[in-house]
Amino acid sequence: MRIDIITVLPEIFNGPLNQSILKRAQEKGLVTLQVHNLRDYSTSKHRQVDDYAFGGGAGMVLMSEPIFAIIEKLKTERTYDEIIYMSPDGELFDQKMANSLSLKQNFIILCGHYKGVDERVRKHLITKEISIGDYVLSGGELAAAVVSDALIRLVPGVLSDETSALTDSFQDDLIAPPVYTRPEDFKGMKVPEILLSGHEKKINEWRYEQSVERTKQRRPKLWKEN
Ligand code: ADE
Repeated sequence: MRIDIITVLPEIFNGPLNQSILKRAQEKGLVTLQVHNLRDYSTSKHRQVDDYAFGGGAGMVLMSEPIFAIIEKLKTERTYDEIIYMSPDGELFDQKMANSLSLKQNFIILCGHYKGVDERVRKHLITKEISIGDYVLSGGELAAAVVSDALIRLVPGVLSDETSALTDSFQDDLIAPPVYTRPEDFKGMKVPEILLSGHEKKINEWRYEQSVERTKQRRPKLWKEN
């Protein structure tokens, strides 16, 4: 998988995408993540990438020119399966979308900023618009990091057997069951007996029941859709 992220704040990505699982995925060569500074594609002296909105109104708008320049350049280098724009009015991201996107190879993710991006970019370049929730962030960067993380961990080989995505919450429309580790008794708070029994079948039944109970309580809509 390859993800090219286009942003006016490349520094934001130094942290979240270079730790732990995501770092190892890149080191193993399973994933290439390339962060591009949109300002490098500005033709103006002051590396300007935004301007006032025609018709007035508060807030700046990302200009078409540098965005077309970088995306057209990237498209000469390889074929992209999706060119994604992160925006609060996009399609709501969930595990199903992550699963289906993870089957694809090459992505561009454009991070919105300020009041958004010139509509001509959305109309003529973008193939998919994604929101990570009904709230507004300062920019699309954190949302792009969230989507990248969710996709990368689904790439075969990124997770080991023990951390397999198959047992994640939402993978079977159920929330994962509670988990415990040592000590068995912590200040009088005990691990459920069944988990110490060594009886695999019974443990699996218990976990399933717990998952069902949690899903009913915490995501009743998800349970009803089942
Ligand atoms: N940019 C700002 N808010 C966002 C959101 N909720 N999802 C995706 N991109 C965004």
